[in-house]
Amino acid sequence: MSTRKTTIDHFAIDVETGLRTTPKFLSSKYFYNTEGDRLFQKIMAMPEYYLTNAEEEILFEQADDIRIAFGNQPLDIIELGAGDGSKTKFLLKNLVDNNVDVRYIPSDISSNILAELQSNFAKEIPKLKVITLAGDYFKSLVKLPDSANRKRVLLFLGANIGNLEKKHAVEFIGELKEFLNPGDSMMIGFDLKKDPQTILDAYNDSSGITAAFNINLLSRINVELDADFNIDQFSHWERYNPETGAARSYLVSRKKQKVTIGAIEQTFEFEAWETIRMELSQKYSIKDISELAENAGYKLTEQFIDGRGYFVDALFEIPT
Ligand code: AVI
Repeated sequence: MSTRKTTIDHFAIDVETGLRTTPKFLSSKYFYNTEGDRLFQKIMAMPEYYLTNAEEEILFEQADDIRIAFGNQPLDIIELGAGDGSKTKFLLKNLVDNNVDVRYIPSDISSNILAELQSNFAKEIPKLKVITLAGDYFKSLVKLPDSANRKRVLLFLGANIGNLEKKHAVEFIGELKEFLNPGDSMMIGFDLKKDPQTILDAYNDSSGITAAFNINLLSRINVELDADFNIDQFSHWERYNPETGAARSYLVSRKKQKVTIGAIEQTFEFEAWETIRMELSQKYSIKDISELAENAGYKLTEQFIDGRGYFVDALFEIPT
């Protein structure tokens, strides 16, 4: 069976499961088709979406401190979901300029973006050794080159961890220990709890880009699974709960309606104002992060926080 066919099967199964559950849900991991990638780029450029700038500031301004925290030894920097590597570039440049023996191993589901990364890095940091790994997280990690006599530092940046429920975040980080030895580290980007209005504005922009980002998943189901969602009959709704730190997006059916998905020959009924739960963007306090590290079997050793106190890149170490 081809990879594309398998991907469509998983997609169809996950969509069916989500729409048969009460309340209905769809997984935000399916947001990222070509149009979804384009919309996410637009989100990152929005003034309300402070996360990208905050993390970029940390990696640029605090690169010396991060390099020192990594330790003076040969490094394998492995990045999960590296994208085009544009933020990580600042840190890598600092390591190379300071003569650290470093190999950069970016992994991403998109081989196109990795090819772009490789050609940009060849121009911008020619001395850096780059080994790309295309595929999803665990499938690419099993292909890691041998790191004998090198410290592994796994990077999981961009608040991607926030898209996992907290208990899944503990499991995910715990499972990554399989690829790390005592003394190795993981640096994770977390969006911090802050003024609830600032968070709500980041996910509820007046220009409607985040709404389009959510609605695009219905369009994707229409195209790839031969469905007939009337996208004008669904509205985006965002909610932030400062008590739990959960920012959640929903799509709300504006009327009673039926949707048929041809690929699985199934019809789904929506009541008027029924919701589909779409994306979680979990916000953390430093205490939450320290608990997460402990529950997953790591030690929180360093926190690199931006000037406004909005975002943290936290260093987790496998105890020796
Ligand atoms: C990719 N991820 C960390 C983003 C977030 O902030 O949860 C996705 C996103 N959703 C809406 N805006 C951005």
